[in-house]
Amino acid sequence: MGHAGGDLHGARSVPSGDQDTLFSSVCECRLDDGTIVQFRPITMSDVPACESMLCSCSRKSLYSRYERIITSTPRELAEELCGDCAEGDLTVAAVVPDVNLPIAGVAQLISDPNLEAAEYAVLVADPWQGRGLGGALTSFCLRAAEDLGIGRVIAEFLPDNMRMIRILEIRDFSLHRDLQERVVCGQKLIRDGGSKREASGSSSHQEPE
Ligand SMILES: CC(C)(COP(=O)(O)OP(=O)(O)OC[C@H]1O[C@@H](n2cnc3c(N)ncnc32)[C@H](O)[C@@H]1OP(=O)(O)O)[C@@H](O)C(=O)NCCC(=O)NCCS
Repeated sequence: MGHAGGDLHGARSVPSGDQDTLFSSVCECRLDDGTIVQFRPITMSDVPACESMLCSCSRKSLYSRYERIITSTPRELAEELCGDCAEGDLTVAAVVPDVNLPIAGVAQLISDPNLEAAEYAVLVADPWQGRGLGGALTSFCLRAAEDLGIGRVIAEFLPDNMRMIRILEIRDFSLHRDLQERVVCGQKLIRDGGSKREASGSSSHQEPE
């Protein structure tokens, strides 16, 4: 079975680092069942829809996303996800127009100040899982990482997450199992060489551990 993970419409190359132009035209994908899903940056006005999405997620899904037992309320988590991003970071909402629960998934790229590496994390609401959305969001975020000038994308997840393994394997991530931490780390090189900020002469920062 193949999904529409790479079937993105409207996603295209834009000048590096320019998040406004990244979403200046509609970016959407069509899932295997024909559902059209739009990708756009999340905003504070999405808090109620994001909260509904989180309420539709099982504890197992939330644990897989955050790798810890969640004690925050769905509202608090939604406010965190929808809050302002630091420069170079990106939170993408997958929106299904004209349905009760318009946000079907949220993906994040959290980058270091030099844009050398970004951590990728994704959550698809339980009713939307297994329909190709996680793959499509990942393809979209990898293109966004390229457009933003990010050097490599890293994802960490639990070893029993077969969907995540599949999503990253077919997108050419190298996967490494950390037995001590009991997680799998995936890594994909997006851009060779030093950071774009250094190359363009901007001040450099130290990459956090
Ligand atoms: C992991 C997650 C993002 C995947 O998204 P999804 O929309 O459910 O997954 P998709 O439908 O895109 O399927 C991904 C791939 O896994 C495959 N797959 C589905 N079930 C599988 C299984 N049990 N074993 C192996 N592969 C499986 C699919 O066939 C698909 O591969 P294909 O594109 O080659 O057909 C989603 O399930 C989720 O949000 N889980 C909870 C949070 C989480 O685990 N986040 C990841 C850590 S940050």
